[in-house]
Amino acid sequence: VFNNPAVASINVAQRIANLIRDKQEKKQKAVLGLATGVTPIAVYAELVRLHKEENLSFSNVITFNLDEYYPMQPNAAQSYVTFMNENLFDHIDIPKEHINIPDGTLELEAIPAFCLDYERKIGELGGLDIQILGIGRTGHIGFNEPGSAPNSGTRLVTLDDLTRRDAARDFGGKSFVPSKAITMGIGTIFKAREIILMAWNQKKASIIKKAVEGEISSEVPATYLQLSDHVEFILDKDAASLLT
Ligand code: F6R
Repeated sequence: VFNNPAVASINVAQRIANLIRDKQEKKQKAVLGLATGVTPIAVYAELVRLHKEENLSFSNVITFNLDEYYPMQPNAAQSYVTFMNENLFDHIDIPKEHINIPDGTLELEAIPAFCLDYERKIGELGGLDIQILGIGRTGHIGFNEPGSAPNSGTRLVTLDDLTRRDAARDFGGKSFVPSKAITMGIGTIFKAREIILMAWNQKKASIIKKAVEGEISSEVPATYLQLSDHVEFILDKDAASLLT
């Protein structure tokens, strides 16, 4: 538990930077699982600063984003492609071909093969070294909404009504928020060697309490993380305020 999101974010960015530098020394690739949303923005800002001011190179980094709305054009203002470009990729030296984000433009029939391929690519690289997560007020991680199975893989899902209400501001109204998304599964996330879930703000306090102290249940998918021995919750005081 950190005093504020800024300090916590710098801590997480530093850990990612350490991994990248360690892999560089070993002439290996660093494979990162990335999240979008408000929560990781300061982590990405710190990584950009480390690139610009402290020579951190991303040339050996391969990224897999957790999710993307469906349908979604990559150049739309609300796409996670746009989010990642604006907050991270446009400002660092990551090769474009190292970036993987679920494709919101696929024909419906093409999605299952795309999802299997996403899993295959991660597996062929030896798995994710670090997976960064936020948490939704439904308890979703990625877009694994209530009802998601613990061994679920990358797939097309239906977004919860609360998730769409929370996204309404970005889209100018809930009715404009896509009803579906492509997301890595709980099983995909679990295979990462390190999982870091971040949450800031009082409005996340009650879902953090359920995720950390509640009964493990598909009703709150983040509770599955209690079963992992390589997960950390990085919280600010407000998000941690209801924990016993
Ligand atoms: C985003 C994602 C979601 C968000 C969650 C929290 O890629 O997978 O699970 O992490 O909805 O969003 P924010 O950070 O905006 O509160």
